[in-house]
Amino acid sequence: MEKILVIGCSGQIGSELTLELRKIYGNSNVIATDIRPAPAEISESGPFEILDVLDASKLQLICEHEKVTQVYHLAAILSGNAEKRPMPSWDINMRSLFNVLEIAKEIKLKRIFWPSSIAVFGPTTPRYNTPQYTVMEPNTVYGISKLAGERWIEYYFNKYGVDTRSLRYPGLISYKTEAGGGTTDYAVEIFYEAIRHHKYECFLGPDSALPMMFMSDAIKATIDVMEADASKLSLRSSYNVAGICFDPKTIAAEIKKHIPDFEITYKPDFRQAIADSWPACIDDSVARKDWGLDYVYDLEKMTNLMLEEIGKKLKK
Ligand code: NAD
Ligand code: SER
Repeated sequence: MEKILVIGCSGQIGSELTLELRKIYGNSNVIATDIRPAPAEISESGPFEILDVLDASKLQLICEHEKVTQVYHLAAILSGNAEKRPMPSWDINMRSLFNVLEIAKEIKLKRIFWPSSIAVFGPTTPRYNTPQYTVMEPNTVYGISKLAGERWIEYYFNKYGVDTRSLRYPGLISYKTEAGGGTTDYAVEIFYEAIRHHKYECFLGPDSALPMMFMSDAIKATIDVMEADASKLSLRSSYNVAGICFDPKTIAAEIKKHIPDFEITYKPDFRQAIADSWPACIDDSVARKDWGLDYVYDLEKMTNLMLEEIGKKLKK
């Protein structure tokens, strides 16, 4: 029987992934943890504990006491926030990963999921159709921590046999939980502002194309790579995942089809430089070939659903 620990369950991804894992493995078999309280849907549907993942002893205690078999380690400081506090962010991103990897090695956890990001790429990486293997010179604290993390999870797999799995998520778009301080957050904020005020001031310029993905596609891909037969995985760093590629002017035009008086204006801030260093769209053919990565949501479908769901949420 699988016993799953989710670290960072209150965030944009954790708040949805935890519930999906509970559907598959049973409510009591998915232990949700975070440094802050969880949404009611999580704390009321199964076990929840406050955990600072930097507290290695408590992490180990939970894993041993609950007989955990798999860990989804989602706690991190994202790109925009990490640039404001570089050293503490580096510390959280790296030390938390080492805590999880060391425990996995010591108590022989069956499997670990740790997400990487398109932030592993940098200004010298080819921007279009970015290959799985290419130049990687990230110039943000977050990107450097993700690239270092990729090297370390591969190292633990090769050296100690820890079954590590990972995806390079693009910007994730969802309506349940607001985004957590990244550069791609504009593509979530824009929907709330379009519905509330029919206008949005974007912190990236009109042509800043970035890879993005709707949350349910990201969750499916996450569970699929975790459930894939180990023999199918040709790499143990992290898989490119492309999703949908668009820029702020294109998503604004799509929203305008539903809200004709919607207006977007542009006031790029420090996140523009981060976006400029990342790919516009990436090649995910290795993930497709190895374990059958696929998506349901394109820009049109995603916009329809985001407007509908956020509209309902804001009316409550
Ligand atoms: P988020 O900021 O929304 O959630 C992270 C959660 O981790 C928060 O609930 C936070 O309270 C928790 N946390 C922070 N420090 C902690 C600590 N010391 N101990 C325990 N919990 C702690 O982030 P997210 O968007 O859900 O991202 C989850 C993971 O996916 C991160 O590793 C992130 O880098 C990666 N990722 C996210 C995106 C995206 O667009 N959302 C894209 C690429 C990669
Ligand atoms: N969405 C994330 C960020 O912008 C990408 O990893 O930080």
